[in-house]
Amino acid sequence: MVTAMSNRSVALVTGASAGIGRELALILAREGHDLVLVARREPELTALAAELKETYGADGRVVTADLAKAGAATGILEELGPDAVIDVLVNNAGFGGHGAFHERSADDDLRMLAVNVTALTDLTKRVLPGMVSRRRGRILNVASTAAFQPGPFMAVYYASKAYVLSLSEALAEELRGTGVTVTCLCPGVTKTEFQQVAGVEDLTLNVWPLAMSAQAVAEAAYAGMTKGKRLVVPGVHNKIGAQSVRMSPRGAVLRIVRRLHNSAH
Ligand SMILES: NC(=O)c1ccc[n+]([C@@H]2O[C@H](COP(=O)([O-])OP(=O)(O)OC[C@H]3O[C@@H](n4cnc5c(N)ncnc54)[C@H](OP(=O)(O)O)[C@@H]3O)[C@@H](O)[C@H]2O)c1
Repeated sequence: MVTAMSNRSVALVTGASAGIGRELALILAREGHDLVLVARREPELTALAAELKETYGADGRVVTADLAKAGAATGILEELGPDAVIDVLVNNAGFGGHGAFHERSADDDLRMLAVNVTALTDLTKRVLPGMVSRRRGRILNVASTAAFQPGPFMAVYYASKAYVLSLSEALAEELRGTGVTVTCLCPGVTKTEFQQVAGVEDLTLNVWPLAMSAQAVAEAAYAGMTKGKRLVVPGVHNKIGAQSVRMSPRGAVLRIVRRLHNSAH
């Protein structure tokens, strides 16, 4: 049971086995939280739990789950038990995929939606009522700068992140005054396994000199979340990019993103 771990507050992080989620778990442990670590790869999660204990004295409960599967959120919470108290929910797990919409496998795109959209929504729905009744809680949803415009040749990924941004901002407003905050993190290109999984490694990391480290992104996310900020866009270049997209003609933006992704096609 999560409540039996210690008196420290508990943060649940999805996608804690790698990248931004792993760094967020380390920061949350450093800042005094116990962790529930969720992803598919158990060895990585178990090693991280040991590191959290050794470095910060934090308890890390490993819950292996495939968030693409129906009922994944229920399964995670059932495994934690009915008395589980989650003080911080970090919906970070996600992946992208590259290619023309009509050529990409429907299964891959539906799995992407299941992880990026459905599992995030389901976990939030199940954890939020407890936070509201306790009048305390933080939710951090990881979207992307992809959320600010459509993404030809990564269409489903961009649309999934637009959903995360829209949902998060709406909930942040709904929950104003309840003691619960919702923060949406919109990173730009970040050095993680993401590019390899999405099939855009050649396009982004090798040619994009401003790619941030997962640690820097996670630090910005944690700072923004603890301040209760609605939106965190780490890195000045990403902030400028997000603003300029808002002010540019949509057609021009679409053509630029198309060119960016089509060159890796
Ligand atoms: N890196 C970037 O450039 C970038 C930019 C903007 C936004 N983001 C977003 O940041 C978030 C974290 O990505 P990252 O960059 O840290 O990528 P990453 O290194 O590939 O990490 C992705 C994490 O998500 C987990 N995950 C993927 N599919 C899963 C599934 N079906 N069930 C459970 N867990 C799953 C992975 O764990 P397992 O493989 O062990 O399951 C892993 O821990 C994502 O939402 C991504 O869209 C990344």
